[in-house]
Amino acid sequence: MAELEGPEFGKADFVLLDEVTMEQFLENLRLRFSQGRIYTYIGEVVVAVNPYRALALYGPPAVERYRGRELYERPPHLFALADAAYKAMKRRAKDTCIVISGESGAGKTEASKYIMQYIAAITNPSQRAEVERVKAVLLQSNCVLEAFGNARTNRNDNSSRFGKYMDINFDFKGDPTGGHIHNYLLEKSRIIQQQPGERNFHVFYQLLLGAPPAVLAALHLSPDPGAYRCTQEGAQGSACGDEAAGYRAVEEAMAVIGFSPEERDSVRRVLGAILHLGNIKFTAEGETAAVEDMAQVAALAELTATAPDSLRQALLTRTVAAGGGELIEKGHSPKEAAYARDACAKAIYERLFCWIVGRINAGIATRGYDARLHGKSTVIGVLDIYGFEIFDTNSFEQFCINYCNEKLQQLFIELILRQEQAEYQREGITWQSIEYFSNEPIVELVEQPHRGILALLDEACLAAGTVTDPLFLASMDARLGRHPHYTSRKLCPTDKTMEFNRDFRIKHYAGDVTYSVEGFLDKNKDTLFQDFKRLLYNSTDPVLRAMWPDGEQSVTEVTKRPLTTGTLFKNSIVALVENLASKEPYYVRCIKPNDQKSPTLFDEERCRHQVSYLGLLENVRVRRAGFAYRQPYDRFLLRYKMTCEYTWPNHLMATDREATQALLEQHGFQDDVAYGHTKVFIRTPRTLFCLEQERTQLIPIIVLLLQKAWRGALARRRCRYLRAAYAIMAWYRRQKVKTHVRELLRRFQGVRALPDLGKGLAWPEPPAVLARFQNASQRLFCRWRARQIIKNIPPSEMGQIRAKVAAMEALGALRKDWGCQRSWAGDYLSLPSENPGLALPFARRLQALKDKVHFGSVLFSCHVRKINHFGKSRDRAILVTDQHLYKLDPRQQYRVMRALPLSTVTGLSVTSCPAQLVVFHTQSRADVAVCLHKTRPTGDNRVGELVGVLLEHCRATKRELQVRVSDCIQLSLRGRRRLLTVETRPDAAAPDFGKSRDGFVLYWPGR
Ligand SMILES: Nc1ncnc2c1ncn2[C@@H]1O[C@H](COP(=O)(O)OP(=O)(O)O)[C@@H](O)[C@H]1O
Ligand SMILES: [Mg+2]
Repeated sequence: MAELEGPEFGKADFVLLDEVTMEQFLENLRLRFSQGRIYTYIGEVVVAVNPYRALALYGPPAVERYRGRELYERPPHLFALADAAYKAMKRRAKDTCIVISGESGAGKTEASKYIMQYIAAITNPSQRAEVERVKAVLLQSNCVLEAFGNARTNRNDNSSRFGKYMDINFDFKGDPTGGHIHNYLLEKSRIIQQQPGERNFHVFYQLLLGAPPAVLAALHLSPDPGAYRCTQEGAQGSACGDEAAGYRAVEEAMAVIGFSPEERDSVRRVLGAILHLGNIKFTAEGETAAVEDMAQVAALAELTATAPDSLRQALLTRTVAAGGGELIEKGHSPKEAAYARDACAKAIYERLFCWIVGRINAGIATRGYDARLHGKSTVIGVLDIYGFEIFDTNSFEQFCINYCNEKLQQLFIELILRQEQAEYQREGITWQSIEYFSNEPIVELVEQPHRGILALLDEACLAAGTVTDPLFLASMDARLGRHPHYTSRKLCPTDKTMEFNRDFRIKHYAGDVTYSVEGFLDKNKDTLFQDFKRLLYNSTDPVLRAMWPDGEQSVTEVTKRPLTTGTLFKNSIVALVENLASKEPYYVRCIKPNDQKSPTLFDEERCRHQVSYLGLLENVRVRRAGFAYRQPYDRFLLRYKMTCEYTWPNHLMATDREATQALLEQHGFQDDVAYGHTKVFIRTPRTLFCLEQERTQLIPIIVLLLQKAWRGALARRRCRYLRAAYAIMAWYRRQKVKTHVRELLRRFQGVRALPDLGKGLAWPEPPAVLARFQNASQRLFCRWRARQIIKNIPPSEMGQIRAKVAAMEALGALRKDWGCQRSWAGDYLSLPSENPGLALPFARRLQALKDKVHFGSVLFSCHVRKINHFGKSRDRAILVTDQHLYKLDPRQQYRVMRALPLSTVTGLSVTSCPAQLVVFHTQSRADVAVCLHKTRPTGDNRVGELVGVLLEHCRATKRELQVRVSDCIQLSLRGRRRLLTVETRPDAAAPDFGKSRDGFVLYWPGR
């Protein structure tokens, strides 16, 4: 849990002081400073003391210690604050801002860098390339902006001479997707003039002392800051670190940000041009000025890529529109020329700086962000703006800077002190009001329309005739003399710290500052002759040209008077404060422990002063009396309702307030909270932390629950789909079945009346499910048809039909012609038409046989040609009764030659050709081979009949009879195997047998 510091380090939060007095506050601050504990909280505000030495507080292990932790879980740190701002943004999708304030050299810029570093370190765990690029540009932009915008002052070796507000955009996952830098009022007067002991912007020294000789030679520069008016003052005294390293770092950073090599060349040329321009001197030539050293003009023309003549012209004259479209060239006096030259140098540098900021912004602009796709974009703003400044001589810049600090202090008071108290009152929380100093009158003194100092200054600038700085002072004395925060020598003649006609003093919240009005008018007007703008717009260097879009205007064009510097600054600061006020603010209050940049000295007086004007004691008091956290009931419940059974998933109480109360009481937090009209107030962050922790533990369970419910819903839906699909399929199938059945009915309805009983009807193609049904129906139908046919056949015919069926089954497919179409008579020998003359003897023989063996019926009789085992063939007759197969001799009144019981006949062989050959196979292997002949009509086809009746007889007597169809029949005669083949002979009159190589052959007449 919380990693608390021991008592030897003092109190980590000023709220814990025993008594809220300045003495205790300073004692705690001093103790912590001496122990290297430079950060202390007041609630969520971080008070930071500049250690003036490197502390091991910022490395990756430190980042890990603070990542995702709550504010008070670890010792106070900027990282904790940055994490809190980041968490607020991520958890509640709120825009946040971190406002860093404090006087010059108190450590604001360093703090902002650590905050950026921390945010960069904890974001983009998936290492997305675009996010890494944005982070790199954000971090590298510091290096470039410091080179161009920071300078050594008497208070701070690396003092920011411009204000910076940086927005970092985050996607819904909390990864930085881009950013934007706003810069405020660069102190451009520093280009020309520095206070004793101070330096120009770092970049000039880096160029002169750090650039390779070749680069300098190309710019016609010598590596000696003392040689240039702009850098002369800073040339003495200690250098700021290793300029060469600085030069390389800036070059690298510019490359990372995306400056092209050509752009970097242009930037160096512009810097060189400023140095050369500063050195140009003018002499009087009669009324007008002349350039002392034309070689310098040539170098300048080269660096700015302008025509030397136009350049000289712009330096020495100005073009004035004289009405009626006429233009007059007016020569400068040497003094005017020098003023114009300085204005030009300052303007060039300012535009260069703004162009660089613009380029950086282009590099970090959020690309391809679509809120619908990527979710809401949130912002963390970091404000590092020049701190409150009191110099020996304070001019217009200090005036602006201090005004800006007043505005920020006002915002702080507004948010931390007044709003807080106002909210308690609004919510009906018992509250003891706390006195605090409000700086509103001072802000009013400066910015009030028509009456404030800025308004008076604008008025003086606009006035016709020559208004001088002292006249402006007089007008202030006259109009602001009564203001409690304004004074001057005239109003207070005894005060010798101010000069007559030069100084005025404002009682700022942070202390009294005496300003010298000298240069106020000039700096506010900020005149730059059009001739320079046109000159530089016409430069062939595209970068330089891009900085001067307003040079495009023609001289005769009547232009609106540009807004003054003061008004522009005021507008930008008002916009800034509005922007900050719309975000959730986090504060870092920086304190400078001494003016000697000493890591050990704790200057109690200086610190007391800062603590008091920063209003830190009031802050502690409000904080102690107040509540760390508040939230409307509904939102509070939304976030924590899962931690309590009464509120999860939804409470049943009358109001959200009651539900909140129930929730907090269940956790035992009732003593640490207060209930407002619409919000719940929680005094200590620890309570909130406990709630957060419980919530974090429950979230995975809730996620599981949601997943479960959702998966169930998905499965149910899929199931419904399936069921529906099956229902549709079933209906469809049923429909198909119905249509099929209907179609069957339609086709077969009148089938009885059809002559072929529907044999020729086509069956409709059945659906797959009905395939078996169709088969069965077809079988049924066949049977029905058969029945219809059979039922009309007289019983006397049935024998014949059965025999035909039997024959068909045995021969149908194997023998082409088997006499189906004929009427089968069976006992042909009894027919007089078949057997004229011999029918009678046959009938007698038949009767004799019947008397002897009592057979039932004659199955078949016919004349045959037979062959014996010697190969001898004879005419005979066969008679098949239901008991025997007889071989008869027709020439001896059909005397029985051989009688074979039918039960010994095992099979029959016939041919597939039309030959009337029949072989009876017997058990005793004494087969009988005969060829039916002497039929009427001749060649009557009777083999089928013989096979049919025998098969039918065997079926009736339940015996087996094999029927073989072959044109090469195997037979056994007296036990010997022989082959019998058929040979068709066109010339044979009647069929007859002959011998062949391995058996016998039947010669069959026909083709
Ligand atoms: N946290 C710190 N650790 C070490 N040195 C610091 C720290 N903060 C400030 N300093 C020192 O103080 C100097 C001034 O700080 P800076 O941030 O530039 O002041 P400001 O921006 O408020 O004018 C820095 O150059 C650095 O030497
Ligand atoms: Mg700074």
